[in-house]
Amino acid sequence: MDFEKNILCIGAGYVGGPTMAMIASKCPKYKVTVVDINEDRIRKWNSDNLPIYEPGLDEIVKKVRGKNLFFSTELNKHIRENRIIFVSVNTPTKTFGQGAGKAADLQYWEKTARQILANSTTPKIIVEKSTLPVRTAETMGQILNGNNKNVQFDVISNPEFLSEGTAINDLENPDRVLIGSKETPEGIRARQEIVEIYANWVSHNRIIESNIWSSELSKLTANAFLAQRISSINSMSALCEKTEADIDEVAYAIGTDSRIGPKFLKASVGFGGSCFKKDILNLVYICQSYGLTEVADYWESVVKINEWQERRFIQNIISNMFNTVAGKKIALFGFAFKANTGDIRESPAIYIARGLLEEKAHIIISDPRALPNARDYFKDIQEDVTFEMDPYRVAKGAHAIAILTEWELYRNLDFKRILKSMAQPAFIFDGRNILDHNKLFKLGFNVFAIGKSPLKHF
Ligand code: NAD
Ligand code: UDX
Repeated sequence: MDFEKNILCIGAGYVGGPTMAMIASKCPKYKVTVVDINEDRIRKWNSDNLPIYEPGLDEIVKKVRGKNLFFSTELNKHIRENRIIFVSVNTPTKTFGQGAGKAADLQYWEKTARQILANSTTPKIIVEKSTLPVRTAETMGQILNGNNKNVQFDVISNPEFLSEGTAINDLENPDRVLIGSKETPEGIRARQEIVEIYANWVSHNRIIESNIWSSELSKLTANAFLAQRISSINSMSALCEKTEADIDEVAYAIGTDSRIGPKFLKASVGFGGSCFKKDILNLVYICQSYGLTEVADYWESVVKINEWQERRFIQNIISNMFNTVAGKKIALFGFAFKANTGDIRESPAIYIARGLLEEKAHIIISDPRALPNARDYFKDIQEDVTFEMDPYRVAKGAHAIAILTEWELYRNLDFKRILKSMAQPAFIFDGRNILDHNKLFKLGFNVFAIGKSPLKHF
């Protein structure tokens, strides 16, 4: 079959896989190929056991895989054959050298750019799908076009705004799609080609076109603003705990103001995920490198409050459990960084688990989707960590339960049965404010939630 357009995506991760599956499903006339250097990942994308869990993803992949969606490890061949190349390789925080701990590590991006250059003999459109520092397209343009091959490359910025756990809906019904390019005739022509892809299912009033630097910077800004709301409400949660105000009531009261809005005001043990911390620290680094110290400090405080909130949660457990958790069994309900994903990258649960282990607690981890990743994370720490899927077995003999992920299943457990099986006095630390705290207190639990007065029997 002849396809109207061929699209390649380099990087078959949480972004590349679902995004390309959605494009393939919405555009049957396009052939979409996803390549990755990780052979195991590609093998899984071609199997019944996909490498990531995302509600609704299996169905879409099954529908289009082998028809107009293909997964492969043959990078060079596919670079040669495709004119439109999305790049969604990882851009983690740099762990070495200049900017370590803040700047984005662009080595995977640059390697990809050089591989594209080495395998190109015809003009190509390169689409930045990864989240990148503002002005990366300039560097990319220099690498790609500073060659003596006479091949024209147009670099487009098309950041991805999907959230894990709701990625399929986010991709199918996006609030907006952002496409930035240089404002030259060639740049605008290339931008239109990318607009055309999304216009197959996204209405034109939701496709925002901009200059390339605005597009790159909007992605970092969006994540910084979202995370800032969480740190703001979490900072207030500490004040609520001192004053008998209730953070959920405060969030509701302020969220009804249409200028503030209700979303992203859920107080929690802290935000996690692969994006927020990494992207804010990258923004901080960029501001510092332009000499904008006050701006850098302002955004860095969002990350600092998050780390403080995680620390506060651990301190709360220790101080309320008679100042020691050594030798005590603590059941962690949830390990994923949020519900409906198996992803544990930067999950607050990691920080809490490590903090409790340092205090010599024994932790038992439960999670409906993240246990394989949790096991892998702790593979070198054998003692004092165990894993168990069934929450009832996890709670058996435990001194305390800490709710770390807002999985729906934890709301509907038989807590009467759980209480009977636990060591007494029994404690619940609800790091997601998802349980009925008064009901638990009446059953006999000592209950500590985020931003609420403690409910203790002693
Ligand atoms: P990921 O680690 O899940 O996937 C990246 C993939 O790129 C990996 O499979 C890796 O093997 C592959 N890769 C690395 N170097 C390569 C190379 N030279 N050639 C071929 N493949 C290569 O990462 P992700 O979560 O999909 O994120 C990708 C980018 O998208 C990041 O910049 C991230 O900030 C951004 N982003 C992520 C999310 C999210 O929710 N995860 C949302 C929006 C944006
Ligand atoms: C985020 C952005 O939302 C998305 O637009 C971007 O493309 C990638 O980064 P993601 O990290 O997948 O998405 O999940 P998100 O829903 O933003 O949650 C991030 C963290 O914040 C989670 O740990 C979540 O539990 C926490 N959170 C979120 C809160 O603690 N309170 C809230 O009100 C919302």
